[in-house]
Amino acid sequence: MARIKILFEEFKWIIILVLCLEVSGRNRYKKYIEPNFVQKANNITVHRGQTAVLECTVENLGPKTVVWRKKSDSYVLSIGDRMYADIEEMSVDVSRSPKYDRIQTDLIIKHAQPSHSGLYECQISSKKGYNFIVQLNVLDTQPAYEPALTINGSVYVSRFSKISLTCNATGAVRAPEDIDWFHNGQKIRQNDPHWRHRTLIYKYQEVPGRSLVSNLSVERARDEDAGTYICRSSDKDTKSITVHVLNAGKDISEREVGNGISSKHDHQTLENNCSSQCRLLNVLLLVTSVLLVNR
Ligand SMILES: *[C@@H]1O[C@H](CO)[C@@H](O)[C@H](O)[C@H]1NC(C)=O
Ligand SMILES: *[C@@H]1O[C@H](CO)[C@@H](O)[C@H](O)[C@H]1NC(C)=O
Ligand SMILES: *[C@@H]1O[C@H](CO)[C@@H](O)[C@H](O)[C@H]1NC(C)=O
Ligand SMILES: *[C@@H]1O[C@H](CO)[C@@H](O)[C@H](O)[C@H]1NC(C)=O
Ligand SMILES: *[C@@H]1O[C@H](CO)[C@@H](O)[C@H](O)[C@H]1NC(C)=O
Repeated sequence: MARIKILFEEFKWIIILVLCLEVSGRNRYKKYIEPNFVQKANNITVHRGQTAVLECTVENLGPKTVVWRKKSDSYVLSIGDRMYADIEEMSVDVSRSPKYDRIQTDLIIKHAQPSHSGLYECQISSKKGYNFIVQLNVLDTQPAYEPALTINGSVYVSRFSKISLTCNATGAVRAPEDIDWFHNGQKIRQNDPHWRHRTLIYKYQEVPGRSLVSNLSVERARDEDAGTYICRSSDKDTKSITVHVLNAGKDISEREVGNGISSKHDHQTLENNCSSQCRLLNVLLLVTSVLLVNR
């Protein structure tokens, strides 16, 4: 009884806040659309020691919040983007797509143990019985395949040539569902003005169904395309690669006398074979693009 009282004291403000949001939300969204769950994998199997990712995506959440709890325990694991249970191996990762009013709230369990197995409930606050249930199975065995993530591709590209990167994400039981690319911390979206009309992201599963491969290609590399490219799988594994865009001629000689990092990289694309004619063409292209942009 005393514990419940303490718990209530702790959560009092949250409860009051949620109620306030609820009331103000009611008034503001008089006839707002009901939230709904986007169907995601609801039966996840991992091996002992691996990372389990339980996904929950809600559309039209409005002023409500997403709550994760384990069905067999009565306490709340997380509310919104905050963890409430003091369980070190668990965390939540929230990503938003404002365009579709979608919120993805993933419950991540690192070093999963068989005791983590069970039914997990993703709930929309204040909507009783409105939930998405995910079954987690943690096998007490070693994986037959080690999960892995590799990134390969062009580390050095000259301006106006093509950047090609390949990310290969292998899961222990099955291929991850998706792969996202980031450039200097920003997610790469093909319809973003910076990338539009010259960027292609192509994804396919390898035959055994354990690997998801994503090829990113960016045509007509610009100076701003240089930087860190990160590939992130839906299993929350990430790898990065640094791409240098070379100003034909100058940077190459710098690189050759430079600190020799180049030898550490797996793959290089050097297309420094630009005659004076082609340089002139490059300058023309640059001038044209500047004129087009400033129009
Ligand atoms: C979930 O997956 C496990 C392992 O693949 C399987 O044994 C179980 O029957 C599945 N449960 C449901 C409800 O599909
Ligand atoms: C790809 O990169 C990984 C390291 O990320 C490296 O071990 C592997 O050899 C590379 N593969 C190719 C084909 O370059
Ligand atoms: C991806 O990785 C898996 C596992 O290491 C390997 O079997 C597969 O050949 C790789 N695919 C590509 C395209 O690199
Ligand atoms: C993706 O990249 C890999 C490695 O560079 C290559 O083997 C594969 O053919 C590419 N696939 C497509 C569809 O471009
Ligand atoms: C560079 O261009 C010359 C003539 O245009 C050609 O003969 C040569 O093979 C090219 N070298 C490379 C590495 O493409």
